Amino acid sequence: MNKAIILAGGQGKRMKADMPKPLFKVLGEPMLEWVITACESAGISDICVIKGFKGEMIDDYLNGRYTTALQAERLGTGHAVMQAVPFLKGDTSGNTLVLCGDAPFIDEATIKEALALHEEQGNAVTVITSELDEPFGYGRIVRSGNGGISGIVEQKDADEQQKLIKEVNSGTYWFRTADLVELLGKITNENAQKEYYLTDTISIAIAEGKGAGAYKSSNPDIIKGANDRKELLEFNDYARMKVIEKHMLNGVEFTCLDGVIIERSVEIAQGAEILPGTILRGKTVIGAGCKIGPNTIIENSTIGDGTVVNTAQIYDSEIDSDVNVGPFVHIRPDCHIGKSSKIGDFVELKNSSVGEKTAIAHLAYIGDSDIGRKVNIGCGTVTVNYDGITKNRCVIGDNSFIGCNTNLVAPVKLGKAVYTAAGTTVTRDVPDYALAIERGVMKINEGYTIRKLKTKQGK
Ligand code: UD1
Ligand code: CA
Repeated sequence: MNKAIILAGGQGKRMKADMPKPLFKVLGEPMLEWVITACESAGISDICVIKGFKGEMIDDYLNGRYTTALQAERLGTGHAVMQAVPFLKGDTSGNTLVLCGDAPFIDEATIKEALALHEEQGNAVTVITSELDEPFGYGRIVRSGNGGISGIVEQKDADEQQKLIKEVNSGTYWFRTADLVELLGKITNENAQKEYYLTDTISIAIAEGKGAGAYKSSNPDIIKGANDRKELLEFNDYARMKVIEKHMLNGVEFTCLDGVIIERSVEIAQGAEILPGTILRGKTVIGAGCKIGPNTIIENSTIGDGTVVNTAQIYDSEIDSDVNVGPFVHIRPDCHIGKSSKIGDFVELKNSSVGEKTAIAHLAYIGDSDIGRKVNIGCGTVTVNYDGITKNRCVIGDNSFIGCNTNLVAPVKLGKAVYTAAGTTVTRDVPDYALAIERGVMKINEGYTIRKLKTKQGK
């Protein structure tokens, strides 16, 4: 079976943070996750991550999804891979892909095409390369006469001629697993950096008469690794534009990209329009013809066809089609909003369901509640769902009319077509077709203002 080893031991000193570099995020996901996704989409499901600096953070992040091995001392890329020898020995029948956890743009196609070449040539090792205009710092690919490869020379070990080579080592390789185990035992640290170079496996393989090859990618982005926060920002811009371009090709409308951030897991149907300041995260699905934004965050939520979301934040919820949301709406986790309803300005919803054609037009808090169809929730309505100890639910039946400034003290159940008078505090269940009114007797004190003014003027 084919496997992968991801090197994630780096600190990234220039990031100026107490976190392993592969955990820095590009478009909402750690760089390590981008590399894992590339492996998974290429069909590799047996992965070992080599951790080093703050290795426990890598374990916390992976949460048992994949194996890890600790490189306690940073003695080079070859030494890092040596830590995975027990993992490799578990099954040496297939091939092993080695990648860097801080180079997020390696992709499925490159991995697969390199493997095809690796197998076709019967290589012990196949390195993935690309050409860079500025190859400084990278290992240079030394080609042999017949278009083959004779080795990789690191920047610090290269002579003047070798420094001119523009083809560089991406840091990603396919190895025949059995050969990798054997080659790792033969590398030494006799070089300018006194490190165990994984790259030395190539010249050793050749010296032993084993096949070594190079798969050259036309896309130099696969090599890019982020070293500081400025580069990380460039990565975010790059990834962001790639995602937006994909959606444009699919027929999504953008008129201005300012502040638009769409994570790669988001799906958007044809004909939707995305306005400035829209941030779409996680497993979000936007339906056809929706108009989203400006200034909106939607996370792990589904938005039905034709829904408008203007200046709102929506988390872990489901909004059906033709709903009108906003402006200034906060929909917190576990809400379901029915078709053709309206959630207007300054409304907050949490863990609640709202039926079709219901209107919550302004200034309301609805928490832990189930609201029926064609209900009108008046301005200033509050579900009093928390008594300081427990949270309770409110139920409002279909066709009800909740007057302005109604407090619904949970747990409470209102039947079908119930009216509540403005200002009522509902503390008991209300049966179908009833009016709930809870009010003191209103008094009128005539001439009050004039008497007050006279007192003030001392008359
Ligand atoms: C390495 C390659 C170089 C290639 C470059 C691509 C070697 C000797 N050189 O360079 O040919 O062009 O990658 O980026 O392999 N790491 C560890 N433990 C270590 C050393 C490194 O886990 O002891 C990890 C780093 O965190 C990083 C990756 O290995 O994810 C590459 O290390 P880095 O120092 O960036 O690359 P170089 O060794 O300079
Ligand atoms: Ca190094």
